[in-house]
Amino acid sequence: MANKAAGAFEKLPILDVALLRGSAKDKAQFLHELRETCLNVGFFYVKNHGIPEEVVESIFGAGKRFFELPADVKQKSSVAAAPHFVGWIPAESEITHGRADVRESFDYQWKGNTAPPIGAPIWKNTLGPTPFPSEADCPGFDKASTDWMLAAADLGYTLLHAIAESLGLESNALDQYVNDPEGRRAWLTKINRYPPVAPDANNTQGCGHHTDDGFLTILAIDDIPGLQVQNMAGTWIDVHRVPGTFVVNLGDYLEKLTGGAYVSTTHRVFSNVGGAVDRYSVPFFLDPHPLVIRNVEPIPDSALLPEIVAARNKDYKSDVMKGDQRKIGRTHGESNFINRLKSYPLCGDRWYPDLNWKQLAVEWSEGFTPGETDVW
Ligand SMILES: [Fe+2]
Repeated sequence: MANKAAGAFEKLPILDVALLRGSAKDKAQFLHELRETCLNVGFFYVKNHGIPEEVVESIFGAGKRFFELPADVKQKSSVAAAPHFVGWIPAESEITHGRADVRESFDYQWKGNTAPPIGAPIWKNTLGPTPFPSEADCPGFDKASTDWMLAAADLGYTLLHAIAESLGLESNALDQYVNDPEGRRAWLTKINRYPPVAPDANNTQGCGHHTDDGFLTILAIDDIPGLQVQNMAGTWIDVHRVPGTFVVNLGDYLEKLTGGAYVSTTHRVFSNVGGAVDRYSVPFFLDPHPLVIRNVEPIPDSALLPEIVAARNKDYKSDVMKGDQRKIGRTHGESNFINRLKSYPLCGDRWYPDLNWKQLAVEWSEGFTPGETDVW
């Protein structure tokens, strides 16, 4: 059961995915540890996760080679090149909490995603083809990005199924929220480069504090520090790379579905202040599909284990500004479109010059009026 002392964690637990593939006793132990971790921490390492080291090294290598390309070559894959908010995002052009992030990124989706048909609601454009670099421009990027995406998604579903079981549900009970009935996949990988920043630089925001929006995130990091997680007592905890592991965290949609029992924990990335070399990270996001209802009703008590139900009433939570992300949009697709329009002005200005995300937020959110605490 969630308790306040456990929520004041000082380091992240390491869960052994090999237990899931072991005996019934091993699996029960894994589910117990997973449940305690999701109730109290919302962040953990996974080891023995089954993704070969070469796949991880390859995606980092591909990202580095891409970022080293001349700007005019990278520009061909710009986030402005397609209306789906994916591709190359130059440094200082992604906005979090109204400020530019110092990092440079390449965001990509599952390669099977097609653009929505002509006349479909505009928010369906949050899924679509990514403007990948050509093989000639960035050799090996295609294979590395595919291998990572498929391996990370496979691990994502393994964890999603374990999370369902840890709640007392059938293993596939949460799949309905993730599997898009239209056949597209709400999978996103971000390859991030955080360049060193002078201590006296004007802007040292690596990635502002936030919670992740979807179900769960699988994060590969390198040895350069930067990630911090806020425990339930409000203290920021440094998260370092543990070789052979990924960092996993839960997102807002899972928190909502569990009525607040499973925690979507606040985190941030410090920019690489005074560093000598670039910091890289590669998160994979397993998100709800665009058609799901945004303000989903929590799973009923009767379907859940008693310790999950009891934890719904806990008197503490991760204290992120959960403002607008919690309220805007009737579907996840609408919410995502608004957030992307806000965060990726290069794409928004090129493809949606007549749309204003604040206006959409009000139009698409029944009864919503921006409050003073909302982050615009
Ligand atoms: Fe995040």
